[in-house]
Amino acid sequence: MNKPIVWVTRTVDEPAVRKISEVAEVEIWPAENPPPPEVILEKVQRVDGLLTMLTDALTAAIIDNAPRLKVISQMAVGFDNIDIEAATRRGIPVGHTPGVLTETTADFAWALLMAAARRVAEADREVHQGIWRPWGPDVLTGVDVHGATLGIIGFGRIGKAVARRAIGFSMKVLYNDPKRDEAAEQELGVEYRDLDRLLQESDFISLHTYYTPEYHHLINRFCFEQMKDGAIFINTARGGLVDHQALQWALESKKLAAAALDVFEPEPIPRDHPLLQLPNLIITPHIASASARTRQKMALIAADNLIAGLRGEKLAYCANPQVYHV
Ligand code: GLV
Ligand code: GLV
Repeated sequence: MNKPIVWVTRTVDEPAVRKISEVAEVEIWPAENPPPPEVILEKVQRVDGLLTMLTDALTAAIIDNAPRLKVISQMAVGFDNIDIEAATRRGIPVGHTPGVLTETTADFAWALLMAAARRVAEADREVHQGIWRPWGPDVLTGVDVHGATLGIIGFGRIGKAVARRAIGFSMKVLYNDPKRDEAAEQELGVEYRDLDRLLQESDFISLHTYYTPEYHHLINRFCFEQMKDGAIFINTARGGLVDHQALQWALESKKLAAAALDVFEPEPIPRDHPLLQLPNLIITPHIASASARTRQKMALIAADNLIAGLRGEKLAYCANPQVYHV
């Protein structure tokens, strides 16, 4: 019997590729840039499995053009780049990689939080430009992290991991989520707030929800208006959750002291985007899960999901478990 064919849309860690090669013929998109949509459309017509990245738009048109496709395995926890409804309609399970990247992503949210609070990126840019301001009582003063109030929007795995780290900084932690989690409130000493009150009471606000169309621009001008003067906003979730014009207003008007983003809409951010002119904005190119070890683990989980799907077995981490209940 012929081996199934799988297409991996970016070079991933070698052990993961070896694992897949034991059961399938593997083709890999070798470039640093994601494959363009027309390449994806062409490839999917003759593959049995796909191992995708969050930069690959898998639209209904693409999924409906993949007659042999048995499984989509995404190497990310988020999957808003994939039309899940279209995949489910076709009975195609979609894998993802939750869990392994939780702590690494929480570490990075904290890196941004602290860098924004203490103006690390801005100070570093100055020194690299040859500007070492002499020590002065009000040179590059920021805001204290310890003892401040942290508001976490989206209290899943990553949100909770961020909260856990706040204990060491003696912070008060508030959270908002569609579901209250009384066990976590007990364990972590966090308090539930509705969104408005969370925005009004927090010194730092960090986003940790999935992106879905109903959360488009969840954080809009009205939200920024409600925040404390001098608050700091952090987004390591998805760019589409935030109205960036409203964010620009909040930063330019000094309503916010600073913001730090690891995600944007669109990615990459256009080079001439006005936000890039603002010294109190830190922006990184979607790297929150990017530790070498975590990326290795993500690749292996994606490989396991892919192999299970090719064999017609249940995926260990499935974004659309409803495919199994039809
Ligand atoms: C990263 O954004 C992910 O969804 O894994
Ligand atoms: C700062 O370096 C201090 O000694 O206060």
